Amino acid sequence: MATSNSAGNNWALMNCSQLLTLAGPMRVRTRAEMRELSILPDGAMLIRDGKIVAVGSRDHIEGLLDSQTQIIDAGGRVVTPGFVDAHTHLVFAGNRADEFELRCTGTTYQEIARQGGGILSTVRRTRAAKEEDLLATAQKHASWFLRGGTTTIEAKSGYGLSLDAETKILRVVQQTAETTPLRCVPTFLGAHEVPEEFVGRTDAYVDLVIEEMLPFVAREKLARFCDVFCEHHIFDQQAARRILDAARRLGLALRIHADQFSCSGGAMLAASLRAVTADHLEHTDDASIAALAAADVQPVLLPGSVYSIGSRHYPPARAMIDAGLAVVLATDFNPGSSPIASMPVVLSLACTQMKMTPAEGLTAATINAAWSLGLADKVGSLEPGKSADFVIHEGSDYREIPYYLGTQRPAMVFARGERVA
Ligand code: NIG
Ligand code: FE
Repeated sequence: MATSNSAGNNWALMNCSQLLTLAGPMRVRTRAEMRELSILPDGAMLIRDGKIVAVGSRDHIEGLLDSQTQIIDAGGRVVTPGFVDAHTHLVFAGNRADEFELRCTGTTYQEIARQGGGILSTVRRTRAAKEEDLLATAQKHASWFLRGGTTTIEAKSGYGLSLDAETKILRVVQQTAETTPLRCVPTFLGAHEVPEEFVGRTDAYVDLVIEEMLPFVAREKLARFCDVFCEHHIFDQQAARRILDAARRLGLALRIHADQFSCSGGAMLAASLRAVTADHLEHTDDASIAALAAADVQPVLLPGSVYSIGSRHYPPARAMIDAGLAVVLATDFNPGSSPIASMPVVLSLACTQMKMTPAEGLTAATINAAWSLGLADKVGSLEPGKSADFVIHEGSDYREIPYYLGTQRPAMVFARGERVA
């Protein structure tokens, strides 16, 4: 048996203080199940051709080794599945550090948007950017996700707001997945904002999304999901419903930016459409939570965007867990409300600001997130048959991951059995 730092075809991961397998029933985890991580103390894993072949105790895995098996030594550290970040805006040009400074001096995120900044300022830059330059930026963002331990993301369009610019972004998502180790699930978010040339004519823009953009995106298979930013004065419940109904008819599954700034019917709409997820939910009320539970909609909570816009209004995660919702955590990585690509940072915010336990946070950031993307057969837990996507964290106890906020980076990250960070 040889010792190695890089993976060959057939190799074993040994010497994990805790191997968090997240193994369990083939369904989303709710209530107390969110705190069951299926931890193997001194656990080990056998990996072949990028897939997990066996998971068990050191003795069990040692019994399966042969002379060809390379060993990766986790060094007595904690190992988790690769994080699954189920809500990101991966592709955009430029940044909005200028708006960040304005918010620091008291201007709110919404005031900046009303003055023509916000999403529309990124739309101007993204429309003007060449596809190859957007790809280079997205590849840089991909490296940020990977070094934080994220091996799968959902990636939305939404900074184009025209057929050409939206499809340019979705092609860049596809190219990022092809040219980096990051697995990307594309979502069409043509209704992220009303573009400048349609101000005062929201209905006409909704028609364009439904009649031109969605059919093209579906025909070219550029996205698996459709999302809408549902909020009064942007796309209200009625407009959002028109778009999402059309998307569903074209075979796309549904996600919704819901109740971020007001309880504007987004979560209720998600429940009535049986969307896969309702995301944000900072202002969702009890009746909407009950409706989400009855419709099996997964809430995707984004504490990084609450923190970054300087709000204290976090979504009611405990009430959602108590209601039996299969909570997901994600970064909402974007240039405005959440310039955060790190799931460990999100885990820390979820614990300190939303009173989730570290174990609930890890479930929400792995297996529940994988279910929300339709990828639970491949990622989100460390079980035989799944992709060898995992993270060797600094520290020997999983609670150290949210505890050392912003201090540690994972020691090693693997995707499909290859070391990627
Ligand atoms: O999820 N609220 C809508 N969209 C993003 C923000 C995008 C931006 O500010 O550029 C969000 O928070
Ligand atoms: Fe978002």
